[in-house]
This record gives sequence, structure tokens and C-alpha cells, in this order.
Amino acid sequence: MNKKIVYLTGFMASGKSTIGPILANTLGWNFFDLDRLIEEAAGLSVRMIFEENGEDYFRELETETLKKTSGLENYIIALGGGTVANQTNLEIIKSSGFLIYLESSPEETYKRLRFKRDRPALLFDGDEEPSKTEFMEKINALLQKRIKYYNQADLKINTDNCQVGRTVDKLSHIIKKEYYGESNKR
Ligand code: S3P
Repeated sequence: MNKKIVYLTGFMASGKSTIGPILANTLGWNFFDLDRLIEEAAGLSVRMIFEENGEDYFRELETETLKKTSGLENYIIALGGGTVANQTNLEIIKSSGFLIYLESSPEETYKRLRFKRDRPALLFDGDEEPSKTEFMEKINALLQKRIKYYNQADLKINTDNCQVGRTVDKLSHIIKKEYYGESNKR
């Protein structure tokens, strides 16, 4: 495998930013979280970028930042949930790296996000707590738009019932085999 970056995609709260650093450490690689790089470049949180400059501006920063990281080697890069839903971004990713889709079910996503309000893509009007039905409708609508991009990944792994350690173990074995030809036999 001559592509020296492994990108992690998946819906919000699928585990990209949790699994990514541990996987990088296991491989002796480095880790970047694309959202954190964008926040550093903008000097604002993702949420404030959306609030002050709008999603289009955030997406421009996202593509710019992605371009800057695409020449790195031996990096795990956690993407944002919407990064791959852009053909330019997808071409950068597929040409420079190996794309892994961390799949999480809408139900599991709801469980992980129901008390969080830091995802502008999943905000609700007013201060009223959204019902589970409202939350699930939003999750499903966004997932339906994105699934065709997520499914262009080179590898898919479901993170619903898998502990972080087991997912990292599975992915590190696959990556070692892809990159170093290491057998899975101990
Ligand atoms: C987004 C997901 C977020 C972040 C931004 C937009 C999305 O990343 O990039 O809020 O559109 O799904 P996470 O997937 O890490 O939450």
C-alpha cells in the first residue's frame, strides 16, 4: 500500500476522534483530528465558525485543511462527519489514503448524542428538548444523504457494540497487513 494516510469517516459520534489517537499510538503513527486543525486555523470552535461564518465557510476551511494534510505520511486522520460528502474532498482522500468507515446505527448515534449540543449539523430551534422522534428523524435524514459517500470507503467496521480496544485491535491488524504485509498469525 503506497497511500500513507488512513482516514476515518463516519457519522457524528461514530468513534472517529476516540479510536483515531489510540489506533495511531498502536501503530506508532501520528494522529490529526481535522476539526481541531480547522479550529486552530480559524481561531474559533467548529460551532462558532458555523454561527459566525456559516456552514459554507466551514466547508471551505475543511477542504483547505484537508489539502494541507494530504501529503503527510503514517498519519491517522479523523475526518468530520460531513467531510466525505463533497466530491473534491473524497477525491483528495481516496488519492492520498485508505478510507475506513466507522459505521454506527441511528439508534446508537442517538444514545451518544442525545445530551450533546456541540454539533451544529444536529441543532434544533428553540430551547425545547427535542423528542427522540425529532432527533431520530434528523439523524436518519442526514445519514440517508451521506451513506452513499460513507460506502465508498475501502473498509467498513461497525462500532455499535464493539469496545474501543477491540475495534482498534481489528483495525491495527488490517492496517499492518495492508502496509507492512504482516501476517495476522501471532
Ligand atoms: C459535522 C460533523 C462534525 C464537524 C461539524 C460538521 C457534520 O464532526 O465536522 O460539526 O456535518 O456531520 P464529528 O463527526 O467529529 O462530530
